[in-house]
Amino acid sequence: MTENKAIEALLQEARVFAPPVEFAMQANAADDAVYREAAADPEGFWARMAAQLTWFTPWQRVLEWDPPHARWFTGGKLNVSYNCLDRHLIGARRNKAAIIWEGEPGDRRTLTYWELAQEVNRAANVLRDLGVKKGDRVTIYMPMIPELPIAMLACARLGAPHSVVFGGFSAEALRDRILDAQAKLVITADGGFRRGQVVPLKRNVDQAVAQTPCVEKVLVVQRVGEREQVMMHRDRDYWWHDLMLQASTRCDPEPMDAEDILYILYTSGTTGKPKGVVHTTGGYLTGVNATTRLIFDLKEDDVYWCTADIGWVTGHSYIVYGPLSNGATSLMYEGSPDYPDWERFWSIVERHGVTVLYTAPTAIRSFMRWGPELPARHDLSSLRLLGTVGEPINPEAWMWYREHIGGNRCPVVDTWWQTETGMIMITPLPGIVPTKPGSATRPFPGVFAAVVDEQGQPVPPGQGGYLVLTRPWPAMLRTVYGDPDRYVQTYWSRFPGVYFTGDGAKLDEDGYFWLLGRVDDVMNVSGHRVGTMEVESALVDHPAVAEAAVIGRHDPIKGQAIAAFVTLKEAAARDGQDHTAELKSHVVEKIGAIARPDQIFFAAELPKTRSGKIMRRLLRDIAEGRQLGDTTTLADPTVVQALKERYEEEEEA
Ligand code: PRX
Repeated sequence: MTENKAIEALLQEARVFAPPVEFAMQANAADDAVYREAAADPEGFWARMAAQLTWFTPWQRVLEWDPPHARWFTGGKLNVSYNCLDRHLIGARRNKAAIIWEGEPGDRRTLTYWELAQEVNRAANVLRDLGVKKGDRVTIYMPMIPELPIAMLACARLGAPHSVVFGGFSAEALRDRILDAQAKLVITADGGFRRGQVVPLKRNVDQAVAQTPCVEKVLVVQRVGEREQVMMHRDRDYWWHDLMLQASTRCDPEPMDAEDILYILYTSGTTGKPKGVVHTTGGYLTGVNATTRLIFDLKEDDVYWCTADIGWVTGHSYIVYGPLSNGATSLMYEGSPDYPDWERFWSIVERHGVTVLYTAPTAIRSFMRWGPELPARHDLSSLRLLGTVGEPINPEAWMWYREHIGGNRCPVVDTWWQTETGMIMITPLPGIVPTKPGSATRPFPGVFAAVVDEQGQPVPPGQGGYLVLTRPWPAMLRTVYGDPDRYVQTYWSRFPGVYFTGDGAKLDEDGYFWLLGRVDDVMNVSGHRVGTMEVESALVDHPAVAEAAVIGRHDPIKGQAIAAFVTLKEAAARDGQDHTAELKSHVVEKIGAIARPDQIFFAAELPKTRSGKIMRRLLRDIAEGRQLGDTTTLADPTVVQALKERYEEEEEA
């Protein structure tokens, strides 16, 4: 199916599911007046949401908006770890599970709010003893173990911005992120488990830190023990368990300004260099606290499971800060859904009585392929609400999720947002908004989105355009770390005064949003954001490569697969060897396994415009088997025709 036909098919989706009555009756958001009130007075709405948090000093102004710079809750002081911990220690929540954790090998641990608070206080004292002060950056490179949120909350307690780097990134990618943030301390583990293998985290840190003079100390959690040989450098490396043993369980939370940085999180953009997205304290926590409560409908006895890795924004906002600031029980799982077998997720849901599940379309499509018999073998009747995030969800996957996981009784919330937005922006409120398979429905109350054309004018329903956000929201990124111009350029220059998301979308007659994927040079591979330029830079870094052009090709499971078109340098082109494996592993070394090209196609020449720009659009046409689009601007149209023929021959072979 061509792209346009697929979009048309989406918009003809006629199925509508009203919120189930039993769900609506008990929902945290049950009255659609919330939409009208927030639209009439967004600042009043956000002030009410902020009032759900505990502030040491009240704010003076809700919003100061000097486009494109926003300051929320100015003058207010609070501490995120206080809001996630201390305030839950009075009354029954004290002994409630804050984190239920399951390791990939099957080990388990539950931390009550009381226990979590003790650990975080201890860890904060450990960091302080290692020289971390308010404002110092700390890079965290860890597997999905409880010490990861403990480390994040300990940083928040001291007012030291954390920069969590996903454990799947390579040593080089880690090095670049440490340098960009100028981190003083790195927190890591000896290793982590992934599909039964050990990921050598500490070894990667050693390699990275050899080239990062800013790092003074490395703190190492023991996770895999004898499975991994670890070298501890004297006066630089410390074992977490040694220092934690001696640390006091009392560390007063630092009163932070609402606009102080809570964290930096690197994400891919349209250039080769990832951007350090900056999130601040008061607005961010207000945004994730409110969205978690109203979208996931969390109640005192829920067991909520977001299956993301904390290395991505979804884990920051919806495993750690949103759920814990609401005093909820948040489940964390270390490993992958296919280990030791394809039923791992369903046995976790059954074992822990998960009530709310939040996962990605790519996972759902794998479950579909593995067959409905697998979830059917488990008691999933505890589930009452399902969520999805990370990429457009196709209606078949949405319906399958609803039926085979949700037993046709659970509302499904498709939530659209980004690292930059910090919080969910477009989503149904499950007790209020009727859902349509494949649509993220409406902006969250207090959020304003539109679909516009090239000139920034709103387009009529049914016509595709660019998704923009027309007003500031509390959890929005404040800047790109160390690069304020890039913040203005990337997000606020295309359409002055409004935020450009980089996504395409359509509105239907009911005002529902249908997300159509990225319109820029960013790919979405299994819900992970990877820049085409990043992969290209990694490829041309290899001595055999002359030029590379990378595109995201439609893939039925991953959403997009990475296809690279490469021209080799003379010597390599003539050496008669197959360079495929070598180039793939080079990319893994430069970035990480998430960026490994699925396909490398060697070409004698790449299609270029007369000014020398590679036309990726045509390469996408080739890789997706479409008719070639407009080729009139090409320097030599025969190049692309020849490429297409050779590509098709190879595909058939
Ligand atoms: O293209 C959109 C897609 O993921 C991008 C953001 O990626 P990242 O910053 O890594 O954050 C992912 C998790 C929030 C968006 O620009 N995306 C995310 N959620 C959806 C989506 N596309 C369609 N539907 C969604 N629900």
